[in-house]
Amino acid sequence: MTTAYSYQETLQVSEKSNWRVEDLIGGDKRLDFTRPFLPESLARLESMDFLTNEEKILLNQIRGYGYLYTFGMVEEFILPFVLDHARPQLNADDYQTRALLRFAGEEAKHIHLFNRFAAEFKQGFVTYCETIGPPEEIGRAVLSHDPLGVALVILQIEWMTQMHYLDSVRDDDVLDPQFKSLLRHHWMEEAQHTKLDTLMVQALADKSTPAEIEKGFDDYAAIGALIDGGLQQQLEFDLQAFQRAAGRELNEREQERFRSVQRQALRWTYLGSGMTHPNFLATVGELNPAARTRIEKMAEAFC
Ligand SMILES: [Fe+2]
Ligand SMILES: [Fe+2]
Repeated sequence: MTTAYSYQETLQVSEKSNWRVEDLIGGDKRLDFTRPFLPESLARLESMDFLTNEEKILLNQIRGYGYLYTFGMVEEFILPFVLDHARPQLNADDYQTRALLRFAGEEAKHIHLFNRFAAEFKQGFVTYCETIGPPEEIGRAVLSHDPLGVALVILQIEWMTQMHYLDSVRDDDVLDPQFKSLLRHHWMEEAQHTKLDTLMVQALADKSTPAEIEKGFDDYAAIGALIDGGLQQQLEFDLQAFQRAAGRELNEREQERFRSVQRQALRWTYLGSGMTHPNFLATVGELNPAARTRIEKMAEAFC
């Protein structure tokens, strides 16, 4: 497998972006609870015509909190994975070592960033929002899979953040500026992670037999199913949080509609948007053309 990316170039670009968590949240930088946090393409609220405009903002913000929590959670398994990948080859190449350690350092910063925003949300939102987890348990379950499978899931997540920002956040002027700033700063650094993760996938694939690569794809699918199971649980938590926030119980028909729209919204946000990213599929196709076809087929359920 070949890739045009290099550790040296990625390190140099990454060193140019040097924001701090404190520059994005805290002091007079507060969330604006009169505005939506997520773009419509991820929140998918337009068709939920049984909700008032105020209720749509509440549900959008609940989904925004879920975004902070879910990304914080996935970064908690990305961080040890990158460190474990870097550790055995610290002497191999100076640029590689520095680029991978910087990658890990940025993910540690992102965990901190998402936690700070989540704390700010909890302070300002009308009700408590339950979330799946705990993150350590989900992280352990993910990391128990084949490293190539885990690296593919991480690659998908990195490309996903690119798609979220470029396709639907960058030009949305209705979003809360602070939340938008989080998504923009995250996108900036994740752009380098997409390249480093492609290099990690390449390194793992290069030392694998075709049968081991098959196993990597099986484990990739198993982790996807694990995440999807978590999203089904999160859907129920979001429904409960919404009813508490809105101060009314949805009737049976409304609940059914809520579940069917939001189930797909969650799936698209955390699975489909990454699985269908052309650059992710290109890497997969180069490793194994049949796996690409299989993933494209799987993605239909998550769009
Ligand atoms: Fe990140
Ligand atoms: Fe990342």
